[in-house]
Amino acid sequence: MKILVTGGLGFIGSHTVVELQNKGYDVVIVDDLSNASIEVLDGIESITGKLPDFVKLDLREVAGVQKLFSDYKDIEGVIHFAASKAVGESVEKPLMYYENNIVPLINILKELDKKEKSNFIFSSSCTVYGQAAVMPITEVAPIQVALSPYGNTKQIGEEIITDVTKVSNISAVLLRYFNPIGAHESALIGELPLGVPQNLVPFITQTAIGLRKELSVFGDDYDTPDGTCVRDYIHVVDLAKAHVAALDRLIKEENSDKVETFNIGTGKGSSVLEVIKAFEKVSNTKLPYKMVDRREGDITEAYASTTKANEVLGWKAELSLEDALASAWKWEEKVRNS
Ligand code: UD1
Repeated sequence: MKILVTGGLGFIGSHTVVELQNKGYDVVIVDDLSNASIEVLDGIESITGKLPDFVKLDLREVAGVQKLFSDYKDIEGVIHFAASKAVGESVEKPLMYYENNIVPLINILKELDKKEKSNFIFSSSCTVYGQAAVMPITEVAPIQVALSPYGNTKQIGEEIITDVTKVSNISAVLLRYFNPIGAHESALIGELPLGVPQNLVPFITQTAIGLRKELSVFGDDYDTPDGTCVRDYIHVVDLAKAHVAALDRLIKEENSDKVETFNIGTGKGSSVLEVIKAFEKVSNTKLPYKMVDRREGDITEAYASTTKANEVLGWKAELSLEDALASAWKWEEKVRNS
């Protein structure tokens, strides 16, 4: 069975390709290489023993997308990762974000709409909940006004998909990720941020390896047990497996609605200081860090209710925060020492 994975050379995409291949799916990767390297293909092949098809394509190009679906008529499902994801950059360049994150989605849905039946998985984010009033966050928590164009593209994407599924043969699953971290245990694929990392764990590993002087902890006066922000950090391999579970559900027609939404997290909140401590333990290093002011736009806490994903999707995170941090560290050491 052939599955199209857009953005399949990126961080979450590449780990998902591995899990799809492990389950026997044939994968076609589309990536424009704007934020990924072609060498990731070798990493995937080394892990699974199978080289996926690869098409270099900018999904904003209508003709290219049409050709893709005419070259691959037997695509049974699409997992759509391809998108820009830097929150700060999206504030500076809103048009770029709306174009990059919405136009490809529309181009793909137009092609799927021509098919008798199709299955679509969308990369959404817990960012749609903003600062939720109640923890853990369930899928029925209200969607709040987005704080950035990036966050807004996720909300708009969800709305477009929901509207389209009502009048087409497309079935969809919206996966709202909490904070994906870590790398494949082989250290053959992982996260490769461009420039200075904005996210916590890549900044930690780059500091520990000596690329950055120290970590700035953004705020220690939040209303949390130790004053630092709390997030739900999920191992990228667990997250990748959630995509396979969602796809299986659609292919077996087990879905109870044309569009279903699941939170994908561990259900456990960890503070920034807890992440630092856990990292120091698994890496056997001392991490230099200092407390600084809050970062604008940060919420106090977010962690998932995973009941729906556990009971309906039949998926559960299996790896711990320590597993994830150890794998991120192994990857960082491998990247810098090779
Ligand atoms: C961010 C995005 C979110 C996106 C997610 C992808 C913002 C406001 N939100 O979430 O939309 O879906 O990444 O993974 O950017 N921290 C530090 N020092 C650092 C970096 C981070 O203390 O150098 C803290 C942050 O204040 C936060 C936590 O670490 O409390 C996690 O930050 P980060 O990894 O950037 O993720 P989010 O902000 O949760």
